[in-house]
Amino acid sequence: MTLQALKDELARFGADNDAAHSGRAQRMLNITADTGALLGVLVRATRARQVLEIGTSNGYSTLWLAEAAAAIGGQVTTLEYAADKVALARTTVERSGLGAHVALVHAEATAWLREAAEASVDLLFLDADRSLYLAWWPALRRVLRPGGLLVVDNAVSHAGQMAAFEAQVRGDPAFTSVCVPIGNGELIAVRSDG
Ligand SMILES: C[S@@+](CC[C@H](N)C(=O)[O-])C[C@H]1O[C@@H](n2cnc3c(N)ncnc32)[C@H](O)[C@@H]1O
Repeated sequence: MTLQALKDELARFGADNDAAHSGRAQRMLNITADTGALLGVLVRATRARQVLEIGTSNGYSTLWLAEAAAAIGGQVTTLEYAADKVALARTTVERSGLGAHVALVHAEATAWLREAAEASVDLLFLDADRSLYLAWWPALRRVLRPGGLLVVDNAVSHAGQMAAFEAQVRGDPAFTSVCVPIGNGELIAVRSDG
C-alpha cells in the first residue's frame, strides 16, 4: 500500500468514526488533508529535523510530519496519553514504513514537557487539549529553539477556546505570528533567532 493510500484510508476511517461518536475520547479528531500538506511543506521548507507533535490520536497527522521528516533525514516525536490511541497510532506507523523516523511516546504532555531539553525542537505541532495550552506556554517556548516554528491546529474552528493562548503568543515579543485559514485554521508562530 502506498503512503497516499494509507492517508486516504485513515482520513475515511476518521470521518466515519467521528460521525458515529460524540465523545472526544472515542473520536479521532484528525487534521484535514490540506493541513497535513501544509505541515509537510513547513517541515521541508524550514529543514525541521527535530519535530515534536503533541496529540497523536491514531497517527494521521504523524504520517504527514514523518513523511516530510524522512525526506530531510529528520525525526518526529509524538505524544499521546490515551492507551487505545497509542495502539492505533502504533499500527499506523508500522503500516507506513516510516517507523525509523517516529518516536511514539505514551505520555501525558505536561509531565513530558517538564523533562524535555531546552531549544531541542525545530517544529512543534500542537493538537491536544486546548484548555492546557496557556499553562504549557512557558514550557513550549522553552523547548522550541530560536528560529523554530510553532503550529497550532483549530485556531479558526475553536477561536474562542484559543483566544487567550493566541493572545499570549501574539503578545510575546520573541514570536512573529500569523493565522492561516487552512483546514481548521492554523496559528503559525516563528521564534526569532536572537
Ligand atoms: C485532536 S486529537 C489529535 C489528532 C491528531 N493530531 C491527528 O490529526 O491525527 C488530540 C489528541 O491529544 C490527546 N491529548 C489530549 N491531551 C493530552 C495530553 N495532556 N497529553 C498527551 N496527549 C493528549 C488526546 O488523547 C487526543 O488523542
